[in-house]
Amino acid sequence: MTLQANNDTLITVFGGSGFLGRHLVRALAKRHYRIRVAVRRPDLAGHLQPLGRVGQIHAVQANVRNTASVEAAVRDADIVINLVGILYERGRQRFDTVQAFGAEQVALAAANHGARMIHISAIGADEKSSSGYARAKAEGEKAVLAARPEATIFRPSIMFGPEDEFFNKFAALARILPALPLIGGGTTQFQPVFVGDVAEAIARAVDGAAKAGSTYEVGGPEVQTFKELMEYVLEVTERRRFLIPLPFPLAKFQATFLQYLPTPLLTPDQVELLKTDNVVSPAAEHEGRTLAALGIAPTAMEVIVPSYLWRFRKTGQFRTGRFA
Ligand SMILES: NC(=O)c1ccc[n+]([C@@H]2O[C@H](COP(=O)([O-])OP(=O)(O)OC[C@H]3O[C@@H](n4cnc5c(N)ncnc54)[C@H](OP(=O)(O)O)[C@@H]3O)[C@@H](O)[C@H]2O)c1
Repeated sequence: MTLQANNDTLITVFGGSGFLGRHLVRALAKRHYRIRVAVRRPDLAGHLQPLGRVGQIHAVQANVRNTASVEAAVRDADIVINLVGILYERGRQRFDTVQAFGAEQVALAAANHGARMIHISAIGADEKSSSGYARAKAEGEKAVLAARPEATIFRPSIMFGPEDEFFNKFAALARILPALPLIGGGTTQFQPVFVGDVAEAIARAVDGAAKAGSTYEVGGPEVQTFKELMEYVLEVTERRRFLIPLPFPLAKFQATFLQYLPTPLLTPDQVELLKTDNVVSPAAEHEGRTLAALGIAPTAMEVIVPSYLWRFRKTGQFRTGRFA
Protein backbone atom coordinates (compact mmCIF):
# COMPACT_ATOMS: atom_id res chain seq x y z
CA MET A 1 0.00 0.00 0.00
CA THR A 2 1.39 3.43 -0.90
CA LEU A 3 1.79 6.24 1.59
CA GLN A 4 -0.88 8.19 -0.30
CA ALA A 5 -3.30 5.27 0.16
CA ASN A 6 -2.43 5.15 3.85
CA ASN A 7 -3.23 8.87 4.05
CA ASP A 8 -6.71 8.02 2.81
CA THR A 9 -7.19 5.16 5.27
CA LEU A 10 -9.00 6.05 8.49
CA ILE A 11 -8.39 3.74 11.45
CA THR A 12 -10.47 3.91 14.61
CA VAL A 13 -8.53 2.66 17.63
CA PHE A 14 -10.65 1.88 20.68
CA GLY A 15 -8.52 2.08 23.82
CA GLY A 16 -5.80 3.98 21.95
CA SER A 17 -4.87 6.04 25.00
CA GLY A 18 -3.62 3.05 27.02
CA PHE A 19 -0.24 1.34 27.38
CA LEU A 20 -0.36 -0.61 24.10
CA GLY A 21 -2.42 2.16 22.50
CA ARG A 22 0.29 4.80 22.55
CA HIS A 23 2.82 2.42 20.93
CA LEU A 24 0.30 1.35 18.30
CA VAL A 25 -0.73 4.92 17.50
CA ARG A 26 2.95 5.79 17.03
CA ALA A 27 3.47 2.81 14.67
CA LEU A 28 0.37 3.71 12.64
CA ALA A 29 1.22 7.42 12.51
CA LYS A 30 4.69 6.60 11.13
CA ARG A 31 2.93 4.74 8.31
CA HIS A 32 0.88 7.87 7.54
CA TYR A 33 -2.52 6.41 8.42
CA ARG A 34 -5.25 8.73 9.69
CA ILE A 35 -6.08 7.75 13.24
CA ARG A 36 -9.22 8.29 15.29
CA VAL A 37 -8.65 7.34 18.91
CA ALA A 38 -11.89 6.37 20.69
CA VAL A 39 -11.73 6.65 24.47
CA ARG A 40 -13.98 7.53 27.37
CA ARG A 41 -11.90 10.59 28.23
CA PRO A 42 -10.53 12.22 25.06
CA ASP A 43 -9.27 15.10 27.23
CA LEU A 44 -6.80 12.60 28.73
CA ALA A 45 -5.51 11.46 25.33
CA GLY A 46 -3.55 14.67 24.60
CA HIS A 47 -0.24 12.76 24.90
CA LEU A 48 -1.03 11.09 21.55
CA GLN A 49 -1.11 14.25 19.42
CA PRO A 50 2.68 14.71 19.16
CA LEU A 51 3.03 11.14 17.82
CA GLY A 52 1.73 12.26 14.43
CA ARG A 53 1.52 15.26 12.14
CA VAL A 54 -0.94 18.10 12.68
CA GLY A 55 -4.48 16.73 12.27
CA GLN A 56 -3.34 13.12 11.77
CA ILE A 57 -4.50 11.88 15.18
CA HIS A 58 -7.88 12.81 16.53
CA ALA A 59 -9.50 11.71 19.81
CA VAL A 60 -13.26 11.15 20.11
CA GLN A 61 -15.44 10.17 23.04
CA ALA A 62 -16.70 6.59 23.06
CA ASN A 63 -17.53 3.98 25.63
CA VAL A 64 -17.65 0.40 24.37
CA ARG A 65 -20.55 -0.20 26.78
CA ASN A 66 -22.56 2.39 24.86
CA THR A 67 -23.61 1.18 21.40
CA ALA A 68 -24.45 4.62 19.97
CA SER A 69 -21.05 6.05 20.89
CA VAL A 70 -19.31 3.03 19.33
CA GLU A 71 -21.33 3.44 16.11
CA ALA A 72 -20.39 7.12 15.90
CA ALA A 73 -16.69 6.39 16.45
CA VAL A 74 -16.65 3.75 13.69
CA ARG A 75 -18.46 5.88 11.06
CA ASP A 76 -16.34 6.24 7.85
CA ALA A 77 -13.52 4.11 9.27
CA ASP A 78 -11.77 1.63 6.96
CA ILE A 79 -10.23 -0.36 9.79
CA VAL A 80 -11.29 -0.74 13.42
CA ILE A 81 -8.91 -1.89 16.16
CA ASN A 82 -10.19 -2.79 19.62
CA LEU A 83 -7.61 -2.59 22.41
CA VAL A 84 -10.09 -2.12 25.25
CA GLY A 85 -9.54 -4.28 28.29
CA ILE A 86 -9.59 -3.93 32.06
CA LEU A 87 -7.41 -5.57 34.71
CA TYR A 88 -9.99 -5.36 37.49
CA GLU A 89 -13.68 -4.55 37.83
CA ARG A 90 -14.95 -1.22 39.16
CA GLY A 91 -18.51 0.14 39.14
CA ARG A 92 -20.06 -0.46 35.75
CA GLN A 93 -16.71 -1.53 34.26
CA ARG A 94 -17.24 -5.31 34.51
CA PHE A 95 -15.24 -7.93 32.59
CA ASP A 96 -18.31 -9.08 30.68
CA THR A 97 -19.66 -5.61 29.86
CA VAL A 98 -16.28 -4.27 28.67
CA GLN A 99 -14.47 -7.30 27.22
CA ALA A 100 -17.41 -9.36 25.92
CA PHE A 101 -20.38 -7.02 25.29
CA GLY A 102 -18.03 -4.11 24.44
CA ALA A 103 -15.99 -6.17 21.97
CA GLU A 104 -19.22 -7.32 20.34
CA GLN A 105 -20.47 -3.74 19.92
CA VAL A 106 -17.20 -2.75 18.22
CA ALA A 107 -17.35 -5.77 15.87
CA LEU A 108 -21.01 -5.18 15.03
CA ALA A 109 -20.29 -1.54 14.22
CA ALA A 110 -17.30 -2.60 12.07
CA ALA A 111 -19.58 -5.05 10.23
CA ASN A 112 -22.29 -2.37 9.71
CA HIS A 113 -19.76 0.01 8.19
CA GLY A 114 -17.86 -2.64 6.20
CA ALA A 115 -14.63 -1.92 8.10
CA ARG A 116 -11.87 -4.49 8.65
CA MET A 117 -11.45 -5.48 12.30
CA ILE A 118 -8.46 -6.27 14.48
CA HIS A 119 -9.14 -7.32 18.05
CA ILE A 120 -6.77 -7.62 21.02
CA SER A 121 -7.49 -10.43 23.42
CA ALA A 122 -5.03 -12.20 25.76
CA ILE A 123 -3.23 -15.53 26.04
CA GLY A 124 -5.31 -17.54 28.49
CA ALA A 125 -8.65 -16.46 26.99
CA ASP A 126 -10.81 -19.46 27.82
CA GLU A 127 -14.55 -19.82 28.26
CA LYS A 128 -13.96 -22.46 30.94
CA SER A 129 -11.38 -20.49 32.94
CA SER A 130 -11.92 -19.86 36.65
CA SER A 131 -10.92 -16.24 35.94
CA GLY A 132 -13.67 -13.81 34.93
CA TYR A 133 -11.10 -11.81 32.92
CA ALA A 134 -10.11 -14.85 30.84
CA ARG A 135 -13.73 -15.97 30.34
CA ALA A 136 -14.80 -12.49 29.15
CA LYS A 137 -11.79 -12.36 26.78
CA ALA A 138 -12.92 -15.69 25.25
CA GLU A 139 -16.52 -14.47 24.93
CA GLY A 140 -15.23 -11.29 23.31
CA GLU A 141 -13.23 -13.28 20.73
CA LYS A 142 -16.28 -15.41 19.95
CA ALA A 143 -18.54 -12.38 19.53
CA VAL A 144 -15.97 -10.64 17.30
CA LEU A 145 -15.62 -13.65 15.00
CA ALA A 146 -19.41 -14.10 14.86
CA ALA A 147 -19.86 -10.51 13.67
CA ARG A 148 -16.65 -10.27 11.60
CA PRO A 149 -15.38 -13.79 10.71
CA GLU A 150 -12.39 -12.37 8.83
CA ALA A 151 -11.20 -10.37 11.87
CA THR A 152 -7.61 -10.85 13.02
CA ILE A 153 -7.19 -11.46 16.74
CA PHE A 154 -4.01 -10.96 18.77
CA ARG A 155 -3.45 -12.64 22.11
CA PRO A 156 -0.38 -11.17 23.85
CA SER A 157 1.36 -12.71 26.84
CA ILE A 158 2.27 -10.20 29.53
CA MET A 159 3.66 -7.01 27.92
CA PHE A 160 6.69 -5.03 29.11
CA GLY A 161 7.61 -1.44 28.34
CA PRO A 162 8.16 1.86 30.17
CA GLU A 163 4.53 2.21 31.27
CA ASP A 164 3.87 -1.48 32.05
CA GLU A 165 1.84 -2.65 35.04
CA PHE A 166 3.84 -5.77 35.85
CA PHE A 167 7.53 -4.88 36.18
CA ASN A 168 6.85 -1.38 37.50
CA LYS A 169 4.49 -2.75 40.14
CA PHE A 170 6.89 -5.36 41.52
CA ALA A 171 9.87 -2.99 41.34
CA ALA A 172 7.83 -0.45 43.34
CA LEU A 173 6.89 -3.14 45.88
CA ALA A 174 10.52 -4.22 46.22
CA ARG A 175 11.35 -0.65 47.19
CA ILE A 176 9.04 -0.70 50.22
CA LEU A 177 8.64 -4.37 51.23
CA PRO A 178 11.25 -6.67 52.81
CA ALA A 179 9.97 -9.56 50.67
CA LEU A 180 8.18 -10.26 47.40
CA PRO A 181 5.44 -12.90 47.21
CA LEU A 182 5.83 -15.92 44.94
CA ILE A 183 2.16 -16.41 44.24
CA GLY A 184 1.32 -20.11 43.92
CA GLY A 185 5.00 -20.90 44.55
CA GLY A 186 6.14 -18.78 41.59
CA THR A 187 6.06 -21.63 39.07
CA THR A 188 3.58 -20.11 36.59
CA GLN A 189 5.26 -19.58 33.23
CA PHE A 190 5.19 -16.32 31.26
CA GLN A 191 6.56 -15.25 27.90
CA PRO A 192 6.94 -11.47 28.35
CA VAL A 193 6.71 -9.57 25.09
CA PHE A 194 7.84 -6.01 24.32
CA VAL A 195 4.84 -3.72 23.86
CA GLY A 196 6.56 -2.17 20.82
CA ASP A 197 6.70 -5.60 19.14
CA VAL A 198 2.98 -6.15 19.76
CA ALA A 199 2.23 -2.69 18.32
CA GLU A 200 4.39 -3.49 15.28
CA ALA A 201 2.57 -6.82 14.79
CA ILE A 202 -0.81 -5.05 14.83
CA ALA A 203 0.49 -2.37 12.45
CA ARG A 204 1.69 -5.10 10.06
CA ALA A 205 -1.76 -6.68 10.25
CA VAL A 206 -3.20 -3.28 9.31
CA ASP A 207 -0.78 -3.23 6.34
CA GLY A 208 -2.28 -6.57 5.28
CA ALA A 209 0.48 -8.96 6.43
CA ALA A 210 -1.68 -11.06 8.79
CA LYS A 211 -4.03 -13.88 7.90
CA ALA A 212 -7.70 -12.87 8.08
CA GLY A 213 -9.75 -14.91 10.55
CA SER A 214 -6.60 -16.03 12.43
CA THR A 215 -5.72 -15.74 16.08
CA TYR A 216 -2.07 -14.79 16.65
CA GLU A 217 -0.40 -15.58 19.97
CA VAL A 218 2.38 -13.15 20.71
CA GLY A 219 5.16 -13.80 23.20
CA GLY A 220 8.75 -12.73 23.72
CA PRO A 221 11.94 -14.71 23.03
CA GLU A 222 12.04 -16.42 26.45
CA VAL A 223 9.71 -18.35 28.74
CA GLN A 224 10.30 -17.56 32.41
CA THR A 225 8.60 -18.50 35.64
CA PHE A 226 7.06 -15.93 37.97
CA LYS A 227 9.97 -16.63 40.36
CA GLU A 228 12.56 -15.98 37.64
CA LEU A 229 10.82 -12.71 36.76
CA MET A 230 10.88 -11.59 40.42
CA GLU A 231 14.60 -12.46 40.58
CA TYR A 232 15.15 -10.42 37.43
CA VAL A 233 13.31 -7.39 38.88
CA LEU A 234 15.50 -7.59 41.99
CA GLU A 235 18.65 -7.89 39.88
CA VAL A 236 17.78 -4.87 37.71
CA THR A 237 16.69 -2.72 40.65
CA GLU A 238 19.74 -3.87 42.67
CA ARG A 239 17.69 -4.90 45.70
CA ARG A 240 18.13 -7.87 48.00
CA ARG A 241 14.71 -9.12 49.08
CA PHE A 242 13.31 -12.40 50.32
CA LEU A 243 11.13 -14.29 47.89
CA ILE A 244 8.38 -15.94 49.91
CA PRO A 245 6.18 -18.66 48.39
CA LEU A 246 2.52 -17.76 48.87
CA PRO A 247 0.12 -20.66 48.17
CA PHE A 248 -2.83 -19.79 45.94
CA PRO A 249 -5.49 -19.99 48.74
CA LEU A 250 -3.46 -17.62 50.94
CA ALA A 251 -2.84 -15.24 48.01
CA LYS A 252 -6.54 -15.27 47.28
CA PHE A 253 -7.36 -14.46 50.91
CA GLN A 254 -4.96 -11.49 50.85
CA ALA A 255 -6.35 -10.41 47.48
CA THR A 256 -9.87 -10.14 48.93
CA PHE A 257 -8.55 -7.14 50.90
CA LEU A 258 -5.98 -5.80 48.41
CA GLN A 259 -8.64 -5.54 45.69
CA TYR A 260 -10.23 -2.58 47.50
CA LEU A 261 -7.18 -0.31 47.21
CA PRO A 262 -7.77 2.61 44.80
CA THR A 263 -5.48 0.79 42.32
CA PRO A 264 -5.73 -2.84 43.46
CA LEU A 265 -2.38 -4.50 44.15
CA LEU A 266 -3.91 -7.92 43.57
CA THR A 267 -7.43 -9.21 43.02
CA PRO A 268 -8.86 -12.72 43.57
CA ASP A 269 -9.46 -12.90 39.81
CA GLN A 270 -5.79 -12.19 39.11
CA VAL A 271 -4.85 -15.02 41.48
CA GLU A 272 -7.09 -17.33 39.42
CA LEU A 273 -5.37 -16.10 36.25
CA LEU A 274 -1.97 -16.93 37.73
CA LYS A 275 -2.95 -20.60 38.01
CA THR A 276 -2.47 -21.06 34.25
CA ASP A 277 0.76 -20.68 32.25
CA ASN A 278 0.77 -17.61 29.99
CA VAL A 279 2.80 -18.78 27.00
CA VAL A 280 2.40 -19.15 23.24
CA SER A 281 0.80 -22.54 22.47
CA PRO A 282 2.58 -25.19 20.37
CA ALA A 283 -0.41 -25.05 17.98
CA ALA A 284 0.16 -21.33 17.32
CA GLU A 285 3.90 -21.99 16.72
CA HIS A 286 3.13 -24.88 14.42
CA GLU A 287 0.49 -23.02 12.42
CA GLY A 288 2.53 -19.82 12.04
CA ARG A 289 0.29 -17.62 14.18
CA THR A 290 3.16 -15.87 16.01
CA LEU A 291 5.38 -12.79 15.80
CA ALA A 292 7.89 -14.72 13.68
CA ALA A 293 5.20 -15.37 11.07
CA LEU A 294 4.81 -11.59 10.77
CA GLY A 295 8.57 -11.17 10.31
CA ILE A 296 9.18 -9.80 13.81
CA ALA A 297 12.11 -11.03 15.93
CA PRO A 298 10.91 -10.43 19.50
CA THR A 299 12.96 -8.04 21.64
CA ALA A 300 14.59 -9.45 24.80
CA MET A 301 13.61 -8.05 28.22
CA GLU A 302 17.27 -7.28 28.93
CA VAL A 303 17.29 -4.72 26.10
CA ILE A 304 14.32 -2.73 27.38
CA VAL A 305 13.50 -3.35 31.05
CA PRO A 306 16.66 -1.85 32.61
CA SER A 307 16.03 1.35 30.62
CA TYR A 308 13.01 2.14 32.80
CA LEU A 309 13.47 0.12 36.02
CA TRP A 310 16.67 1.97 36.93
CA ARG A 311 14.54 4.58 38.68
CA PHE A 312 13.72 1.99 41.37
CA ARG A 313 17.40 1.57 42.25
CA LYS A 314 18.61 3.20 45.43
CA THR A 315 21.20 5.13 43.44
CA GLY A 316 19.09 5.78 40.34
CA GLN A 317 21.04 5.76 37.07
CA PHE A 318 24.14 7.49 38.44
CA ARG A 319 26.07 4.83 40.33
CA THR A 320 25.73 1.10 40.64
CA GLY A 321 25.30 0.39 44.34
CA ARG A 322 24.83 -3.36 43.82
CA PHE A 323 22.16 -4.84 46.09
CA ALA A 324 20.96 -2.31 48.61
N1 LIG B 1 -0.81 -5.14 29.50
C1 LIG B 1 -0.62 -6.45 29.31
O1 LIG B 1 0.37 -7.04 29.78
C2 LIG B 1 -1.62 -7.24 28.49
C3 LIG B 1 -1.41 -8.62 28.33
C4 LIG B 1 -2.32 -9.34 27.55
C5 LIG B 1 -3.39 -8.71 26.96
N2 LIG B 1 -3.59 -7.36 27.14
C6 LIG B 1 -4.73 -6.71 26.49
O2 LIG B 1 -4.23 -5.72 25.59
C7 LIG B 1 -5.14 -4.63 25.53
C8 LIG B 1 -4.41 -3.33 25.82
O3 LIG B 1 -3.85 -3.43 27.12
P1 LIG B 1 -3.19 -2.18 27.85
O4 LIG B 1 -2.22 -2.72 28.84
O5 LIG B 1 -2.77 -1.18 26.86
O6 LIG B 1 -4.46 -1.62 28.66
P2 LIG B 1 -4.67 -0.15 29.29
O7 LIG B 1 -3.39 0.60 29.37
O8 LIG B 1 -5.43 -0.36 30.56
O9 LIG B 1 -5.60 0.56 28.22
C9 LIG B 1 -6.92 0.21 28.10
C10 LIG B 1 -7.62 1.25 27.24
O10 LIG B 1 -9.03 0.95 27.20
C11 LIG B 1 -9.76 2.15 27.45
N3 LIG B 1 -11.04 1.78 28.04
C12 LIG B 1 -11.28 1.17 29.23
N4 LIG B 1 -12.60 0.97 29.40
C13 LIG B 1 -13.21 1.49 28.30
C14 LIG B 1 -14.56 1.60 27.89
N5 LIG B 1 -15.57 1.15 28.65
N6 LIG B 1 -14.83 2.17 26.68
C15 LIG B 1 -13.82 2.65 25.90
N7 LIG B 1 -12.51 2.58 26.24
C16 LIG B 1 -12.22 2.01 27.43
C17 LIG B 1 -8.86 2.97 28.34
O11 LIG B 1 -9.12 4.36 28.24
P3 LIG B 1 -10.13 5.14 29.23
O12 LIG B 1 -10.08 4.43 30.55
O13 LIG B 1 -9.63 6.53 29.24
O14 LIG B 1 -11.45 5.03 28.55
C18 LIG B 1 -7.48 2.67 27.74
O15 LIG B 1 -7.28 3.53 26.61
C19 LIG B 1 -6.27 -4.95 26.52
O16 LIG B 1 -7.35 -5.53 25.84
C20 LIG B 1 -5.64 -5.98 27.45
O17 LIG B 1 -6.59 -6.83 28.03
C21 LIG B 1 -2.73 -6.61 27.90
